[in-house]
Amino acid sequence: MRILGVESSCDETAAAVVEDGRRVLSNVVSSQIAVHRPFGGVVPELASRKHVEAILYVVEAALEEAECSMNDIDAIAVTRGPGLIGSLIVGISAAKAIAYALEKPLIDVNHLEGHIHAAFLDSDLPNAPFVCLVVSGGHTALYYSESLDQPPEFLGGTLDDAAGEAFDKVAKLLGLGYPGGVVIDQLSEQGNPTAIDFPRVYLGKDSLDFSFSGLKTAVVNFVRTHSPLTYRVEDLVASFQEAVVDVLVAKTVLAANMKGVKNVAVVGGVAANRRLRHKFEEKAIDNRWKLYVPPIHLCTDNAVMIAAAGYGVWKRKGFTRDILTLDAVSRWY
Ligand code: KG4
Ligand code: ZN
Repeated sequence: MRILGVESSCDETAAAVVEDGRRVLSNVVSSQIAVHRPFGGVVPELASRKHVEAILYVVEAALEEAECSMNDIDAIAVTRGPGLIGSLIVGISAAKAIAYALEKPLIDVNHLEGHIHAAFLDSDLPNAPFVCLVVSGGHTALYYSESLDQPPEFLGGTLDDAAGEAFDKVAKLLGLGYPGGVVIDQLSEQGNPTAIDFPRVYLGKDSLDFSFSGLKTAVVNFVRTHSPLTYRVEDLVASFQEAVVDVLVAKTVLAANMKGVKNVAVVGGVAANRRLRHKFEEKAIDNRWKLYVPPIHLCTDNAVMIAAAGYGVWKRKGFTRDILTLDAVSRWY
């Protein structure tokens, strides 16, 4: 089955064609990074407007790259949520219009389930349950899945900032540019991760929840109380990154142990972080895990993951009924 995926939940307008949830025929992403860079974060109203401008070109480009026409598409999968409502509505409206006009079935997809699927495109499918850390600009949560085609069970998540949001806010505070995660990842390569002992918040020994606002405040306080001549920015960001990574890794180890699983996936924009990937690779060896991490270009938002997840959703519950009344949801598991 050939699925056209459409994604517009945040600041990337994306479309892709994927066959049987596995074979990627095209992957087109129109990024709005340059639009939001002057503001140091995503401006929802600007994001919606840019999606409107880009969506049809992006869909056309995805079909062209896949060397197919709409007639060769069996269904359209679209991100229903979670995300920014104004942004989601653009992708959903386009997908509904295409589906209705061309009499194609529609599949509504959870964005986080999409991120999870990105980890399995290039590898064998897990033959057993797995634990997944979803870590991005909007989400930081742990899930348990019996199989890739089942909806993931929520185990715990952030009580305040998402990890990517913390990266972006710290980078903004330090005037380093946007998106903060990428800049901090690069700068940290020249920094000492043990230079500054920032707090790691664990919220109790059995908690699978996260909190990053205290760490962000600790960075703010450090910058306010120290002259820039007394520390290197590289050391500061490397130490901040280390604190985030330590907590993400420790909570994932806890979740995998609690659930007794040996398959672990790490997905979402922050999964592109080199230090995070390195530490998870080490843990995978220590714990004899099979580790699933998407290639870097499929960590951040894209429509390949939506088309791939759409195939799983279709196998689980079929096509979306009532195409015309399908609405966007800002919060969803
Ligand atoms: O998955 P994504 O594209 O959007 C959401 O669903 O939120 O994730 C974007 C987030 C941003 O906060 C960005 O700073 C972060 O992922 N990010 C990174 C890296 N690349 C992107 N964070 C840390 N290290 C990176 N290399
Ligand atoms: Zn995302």
